[in-house]
Amino acid sequence: MSKDFKRILVTAALPYANGPVHIGHLAGCYLPSDIYVRYQRARNRDIKYVCGSDEHGVPITIRAMKEGVSPQEIVDKYHAIIKESFQQMGISFDIYSRTSGAVHHQTSADFFRKLYDKGLFEEKESEQYYDEKAQVFLADRYITGTCPVCQNPNAYGDQCEKCGSTLSPEQLIHPRSTLSDAVPVKKTTKHWYFPLQDYEPWLKEWILENHADWKNNVIGQCKSWLDSGLQSRAMTRDSNWGVKVPIEGAEGKVLYVWFDAPIGYISATKELTAQWADYWCSEDTKLVHFIGKDNIVFHCIIFPSMLKAHGDFVLPDNVPANEFLNIEGEKVSTSRNWAVWVHEYIHDFPGCEDVLRYTLCANAPETKDNDFTWKDFQDRNNNELVAVFGNFVNRAWVLMHKLCGGKVPKLHEEMLDEADRAMMQAFATTRLKVEEAIEQYRFREALYEVIDLARQGNRYMQEKEPWILAKTLAENPGNQKGIDNCLHICLQLTANLAILANPFLPFTAKKMCYMMKVVDKMLDWENAGKTKLLSVGYSLREPQLLFRKIEDTEIEAQVQKLKANAKPGGTASPAGTETQSGSDTAISLPAEAIPVKPEIVYDDFTKMDFRTGIIRAAEKVEKADKLLKLQVDLGFETRTIVSGIALHYQPEDIVGQQVVVVVNLAPRKMRGIESQGMILMAENKEGKLFFVQPSALIDPGSGVS
Ligand code: 2FM
Ligand code: ZN
Repeated sequence: MSKDFKRILVTAALPYANGPVHIGHLAGCYLPSDIYVRYQRARNRDIKYVCGSDEHGVPITIRAMKEGVSPQEIVDKYHAIIKESFQQMGISFDIYSRTSGAVHHQTSADFFRKLYDKGLFEEKESEQYYDEKAQVFLADRYITGTCPVCQNPNAYGDQCEKCGSTLSPEQLIHPRSTLSDAVPVKKTTKHWYFPLQDYEPWLKEWILENHADWKNNVIGQCKSWLDSGLQSRAMTRDSNWGVKVPIEGAEGKVLYVWFDAPIGYISATKELTAQWADYWCSEDTKLVHFIGKDNIVFHCIIFPSMLKAHGDFVLPDNVPANEFLNIEGEKVSTSRNWAVWVHEYIHDFPGCEDVLRYTLCANAPETKDNDFTWKDFQDRNNNELVAVFGNFVNRAWVLMHKLCGGKVPKLHEEMLDEADRAMMQAFATTRLKVEEAIEQYRFREALYEVIDLARQGNRYMQEKEPWILAKTLAENPGNQKGIDNCLHICLQLTANLAILANPFLPFTAKKMCYMMKVVDKMLDWENAGKTKLLSVGYSLREPQLLFRKIEDTEIEAQVQKLKANAKPGGTASPAGTETQSGSDTAISLPAEAIPVKPEIVYDDFTKMDFRTGIIRAAEKVEKADKLLKLQVDLGFETRTIVSGIALHYQPEDIVGQQVVVVVNLAPRKMRGIESQGMILMAENKEGKLFFVQPSALIDPGSGVS
């Protein structure tokens, strides 16, 4: 850290409280920030680490509307889940707050008010699409219609995913609300705009000249925003969920979620400490925002401009954004459930929190998108944590108990040779390398150095072979000195490894302290590099297993789970015929006994909305011999559903059939047709599919539970 700074304030992006966190979140900003903070704490620096749930914004209100609950219920639920996941993974925030709290509402309203009083906002009226049925203004993503470029009937208000055109809602032909399917109407509304363009010259100098040391991916994005010219941005929205706009004549308006969320960093610090202003209002604070790449513009351009306009607060010194983590070669998609959820990982791999921390850091998407695969997770655990780090510590411990009576042996200085000295020298060299890499936000490299030190330890022990010396001890009592020296150095190396690994593998470092019978204070960074951490004659505990081997079966189960959960589901799904690439494939025969899927809680089940329906029309889908396109009458509406049953039923035979439909499944495109639900099918041993039906004909739209 540059000596000009007296204290550090680290923020990690506030996750939206509309779903649990997945490992992409961890790899993006929570793990790197935690490593950084743990390292700085170990250096005894004055540091605060703040985060919290981002509880406002359209996705939360929409989710609440769809689930028929209040937004508060949604955020209460996910805030608790997210907070627990972080805590279990050892993400050591000083505070994990939430933006629905009173302190935040006051802080962000005051912030807005100050900018307003300075006369900085432009007040503008504009026409926006409004859903009269749902009674909400529609954000671009919530309007669909026909793309004017390629005629795709399901283009979004901001983009056509078929031809890639960037659109505005006005360009859509036959626009519809995705909430109610109503045709949206134009309605005039007034909002307050922040004139970002006024800050362009300052931003150019501040970022491109004064902070040219930021990561390339960050500078690259900033440059492209600045090159394309900045424009005023509306900082208010029509909604009743959020921070009320604190001025007269703004009833029914709230602050734009990206206006209030970053102010959440300030509110959280206020809640944490009465000295919050030391961190926020003093030039000698080093403010560091850890984020994922999708947040770059907000943290490097919009929020700094807001802070500049406000005038009381410090600006970020760095914004080390990571790129994205893909899973098994595909982009994480929460709607498709293509994700590894942190709470599920913790459940499936209890006691292996550090293994995930290790894998995500060793393979962190620091400079480009990276891929997480379960195989790599297993290899890193088995070949690096178990075979290198754990193995070294374990061997040192076992040999010390066997050959040195369970105590730290003496170091016989007169016997030290080149290998001993080189090994001890490596402690300090590694400390410097790790330090330099962490200070520059290169966590992968830092972690590599730690493991490499353990690797050197294994080589050293192998070269010294104290177990061979022990074999001829009776004839050569002098061998004991060689044994002592080797194990003395290995034990001091273990202590160094605990200190150096602590920011990355805190659970492991704690176990090592227990084995060494030392207090956490030993993990202070200033101890790294020292060769006399454990006193001669000190008796040490029995070794503990630091890492266990991860078996092929565990990995296979995870891959299977990922795939099974990502699809609407084997036999019970029309998309049982759809692969990840969207093509229709053969219907697989069930194995003798279909394995039972991982347990779910009752809440998971109640989220699914099953209804009875009647097939009114059916036709084959062109160039997809397994798919039928159905029109299913649900009583309240008729939906298009694509189902993989064409090999089992002729279209004309199933018109009039009663079916059970999952009606709240996110729509999926198959062969260019949007399937708006899923029909439940049962499959017999021969792979033949049958409709799941009530025992009598009942009204379409009836609930099934
Ligand atoms: O992208 C997101 O998940 C946002 N909720 C991040 C907000 S970061 C900060 F500004 F609060
Ligand atoms: Zn298009």
